Formats: sequence, C-alpha cells, structure tokens
Amino acid sequence: MVTILEGRTLATQIKNKIKKEVIQLKENGVVPTICVIQVGEDPASTIYLRKKKEFAQSVGIKEISLRFSQEITQQELIDKIKELNADAAINAIMVQLPLPQQIDEQAIFETIAPQKDVDGFHPYNQGKLWQGDSQIMPATVRGILSLIDSYELDLVGKNTLIIGRSVIVGKPLASQLLARDATVTIAHSKTQDLSAITKKADIIVSDVGQANLITSKMLKQGVVLLDVGINRVNGRVVGDVAFEDCKVKASAITPVPGGIGPLTVASLMEQVVILTRIQKDDR
Ligand code: GUN
Repeated sequence: MVTILEGRTLATQIKNKIKKEVIQLKENGVVPTICVIQVGEDPASTIYLRKKKEFAQSVGIKEISLRFSQEITQQELIDKIKELNADAAINAIMVQLPLPQQIDEQAIFETIAPQKDVDGFHPYNQGKLWQGDSQIMPATVRGILSLIDSYELDLVGKNTLIIGRSVIVGKPLASQLLARDATVTIAHSKTQDLSAITKKADIIVSDVGQANLITSKMLKQGVVLLDVGINRVNGRVVGDVAFEDCKVKASAITPVPGGIGPLTVASLMEQVVILTRIQKDDR
C-alpha cells in the first residue's frame, strides 16, 4: 500500500505551532516582521507573494511588501536592502526571484544580512548548513525535512537521489540529507543515463520543473518519491513525477499540488520566527 504524503495536513499543524510562538513573542514585546521585495510584476511571483502575505497575516506575523519597477538598478536595490538590514524593526528580508536581467542574484544574496536571510541563500548560511549548523535553511528544504520527520521516513544509509542542483533546493538539501546519514547523489541537466541512477534510488527528490520526467519504469519497487516540481499542463498543476503511473511502484509519494508546496510557505514563516528569536537573544 502506498502512503500519500500529505503536505497540507502538516502545513496546518506547523501553522498552529507558529501562531502560538508568535503570541509568546508578542507577549515579550516583539512583533515578528518580514519585509518582502518584489521587482517587476511577474504574474507567478504575484500569486506566490499573495499566498505568503495571507499566511503571515493568519499567524500574526507582520508582513511589509515593497514593490519596485522592473527597471530598478542593482545598486538601488542593494541600497534598499542595506536600509532594511539596519532597521531593527525588520527581522526577515526576502527578495522574490526571478529578478530582471540587470540584477545579479548572487550580489543580492550576499547583501541581505545573514541573520535576516529568511530564504537561507546567503553564502554564510549555506556554508553553515554544510558544517552542521542548520538553524537557517531555504524554506523548501525545511519543508521536505518536516515531511520526512512527520512520516518517520528512514534515511540512514539509504540511496537518496536529488535531481536538481540549485542553491534554493538541491545543494542545501544534499547537506541536510547527508547530515542525517543518507547516501546522497545529485543528478542534474548534464547527467548521463538518469534512469540508471533512479533505478538504484531508495528515495528520490525531484526539483526540475519538467512534467513526467519520472515514470514507473525508471523506479525500483518501494521507492519514496518527493516531488518539488510545479508544472502547468493543460491548465492543471502537476509535478515532475507521473503520479498515477508511479504510485503503483512507490511505498510513499507526495501529491502535486498538496505535497511539498504548502509546506514551503509554512516553513518560510517558521523561519521568520526562528530569525526573530535569534535576534532577540542576541540583544
Ligand atoms: N521564487 C521561487 N521560489 C522562491 C523562493 O523560495 N524564494 C525566493 N526569494 N524567490 C523564489
């Protein structure tokens, strides 16, 4: 029997936990506050940001949205972030990706103060993840780990394949699965014979953005499938895994939508609370 790994249920539990933590912080005179920056008007970004705003409001986190024109220069954006770094009322800063061509993402990652880096993209925080300090991590990675913990999935010694090598998911996730004693492989767009690797995997995490990338003939019986992909096909949202085909072979599988997606927003807000606590303890 396959287990459907329900992210929505867990996201609701996380939401309730955050609500209680925010109440505690407010009783101590601290209002956890996130500032979210959007550059331009990418429709997908606008939808994600609306979800983040609604979630923040529902748990009592203060959310400040700043929107800049598509033409903003890199220096103007950097100056704005530096102002937010220096503002004690802001606990967390997020710059929504993608950014327009004239702006180098890496320069932006490096400008956000590490202690306010709610996305966990700063090289300092990514480096800390590899050295065993996992307080701050990208929201999708936190969401995946929460799902693994919630369903008590066994990672120790398991052949764990991550498909995708981004700074947002693949690389930081590898550090965390390794820390939990998994045997980690990362596949990517230049990987030869993906199928030969997927057939050996006990656990597969896919973050590619390609519908039907993973089909049942590529899998070993009993595999665990964690699907981070979000793809629109004929007006429907699907993941990277051909769900109906693969669920027959898997022991556990995330649906899309309703798997990792809802956990990402919840985990981001969890991280706002964590950053607020770190800053409060430092004062
Ligand atoms: N765009 C898509 N996913 C993300 C994310 O996790 N963080 C940011 N900042 N932008 C994104």
